[in-house]
Amino acid sequence: MSTPGHYFESVYADSADPWDFAGSWYELRRYGLLVASLPERRYRVCFEPACSVGVLTESLAARCDEVHAVDVVDAAAEQARRRISRAGLAHVSVRTADALAPWPRPACDLLVLSEFLYYTAADRLDALIGDLLRLVESGGTVVACHWLGRSEDHACHGEDVHAALARRDELERLVHHREEGFLLEVFRRA
Ligand SMILES: C[S@@+](CC[C@H](N)C(=O)[O-])C[C@H]1O[C@@H](n2cnc3c(N)ncnc32)[C@H](O)[C@@H]1O
Repeated sequence: MSTPGHYFESVYADSADPWDFAGSWYELRRYGLLVASLPERRYRVCFEPACSVGVLTESLAARCDEVHAVDVVDAAAEQARRRISRAGLAHVSVRTADALAPWPRPACDLLVLSEFLYYTAADRLDALIGDLLRLVESGGTVVACHWLGRSEDHACHGEDVHAALARRDELERLVHHREEGFLLEVFRRA
């Protein structure tokens, strides 16, 4: 079973920044590697599902004309909105929404899947990835980065996520960066 949205509500009720995205050197370094690995200098439209408190969102903003970020938990999205507003980034929008629900999601040339897809049950990954890839224009970039540890709140493992991405005929892998903690991969969409 995929991890339900109400689980994340309870996580943010216990802590404003449950994974310490704003302070953890591990996370800040991971974000730096992710953004540095993007092959294009500029992107027109970035879609970032599961943006949490918006730390990665702010980094992505420097490379994109528009960033559309969403998180299913309003408390997280509200923090991200405040961060983006403080930084004066008028080209970034942060919406409270279930990224998997059929609201009108933006077509994009950059799709960012960071610590997100392991909340999806393994038997639903292929369908969900197919759905997300339909948003990405031909030649666009898909970046995926997932922790390789085990957690009870994950519905599948980070390795399952990247194996599912590797199976996609429409994705050409450009970057494969593996560390003890996480796997970072960048793909070009056919
Ligand atoms: C581990 S955090 C990852 C945050 C960010 N992507 C990063 O790499 O720093 C997972 C986030 O996914 C959000 N989330 C989980 N399922 C979601 C969904 N279906 N739609 C939007 N956000 C979701 C949670 O609320 C949480 O903020």
